[in-house]
Amino acid sequence: MTITKLAAGNWKMNGSLKQLGEAKALAAAHLSPTVEVLLCPPATLLAQMAHVIQGGGVQLGGQDCHAAPKGAHTGDISASMLFDAGASFVILGHSERRADHGETSLDVADKVEAAWDSGLVAIICVGETEAQRDAGETLAVIGAQLTGSLPHGANADNTVIAYEPVWAIGTGRTPTDAQIAEVHAFLRTNAPDAGVRLLYGGSVNPGNAAAIFTIDNVDGALVGGASLKAEDFTQIVTALENS
Ligand code: PGA
Repeated sequence: MTITKLAAGNWKMNGSLKQLGEAKALAAAHLSPTVEVLLCPPATLLAQMAHVIQGGGVQLGGQDCHAAPKGAHTGDISASMLFDAGASFVILGHSERRADHGETSLDVADKVEAAWDSGLVAIICVGETEAQRDAGETLAVIGAQLTGSLPHGANADNTVIAYEPVWAIGTGRTPTDAQIAEVHAFLRTNAPDAGVRLLYGGSVNPGNAAAIFTIDNVDGALVGGASLKAEDFTQIVTALENS
């Protein structure tokens, strides 16, 4: 089975109109990439970013969506609105949303269904805290998140799974190769479809990307901080292309 690798950038709550030049430079550097390249800016930048990356090989995604298609939900954004703004992916169940907004796996599953209904690919995030790893609960936690967050009907075309250990996000710390390999092997076995792409996320940078991409069952990366600069993200995309 051929799996098209994916380098996804998550800008989180960063970025302004001025920084769209980074997206433009990334798109110009990857006019016809041999992997999929994705940027997920804050919602305020989606439509403008769609404009500046036109003609390049970069796709757009949202960072969250509401489970309902529309309605009285002040401050929220629906999956169809993301699609309308030019997105083809949406990140769901990121640990920052699970922590900051109390999102449960059941909430995430509802959002995944909404994403699919609007034609978006859902990138579902799972990952253990440091305390859970220390307690030997890593695979149990991830297994429960996976079962709870994945509605029936997930397949390689509509779903990507990202393994993001909470303790590795934004900390500069990464798991050992063996730790990543163990979780990714578990995800491969438990994914609903053998072709579902499995991303690693958490402090991926131009210096460690190539090594991470050699680990079995790692089909790409979900990158936070290092996706904000075109130069850094370009190096990560190139490392994925060469892997
Ligand atoms: P980081 O974030 O690359 O800044 O560690 C990754 C993520 O949260 O997706």
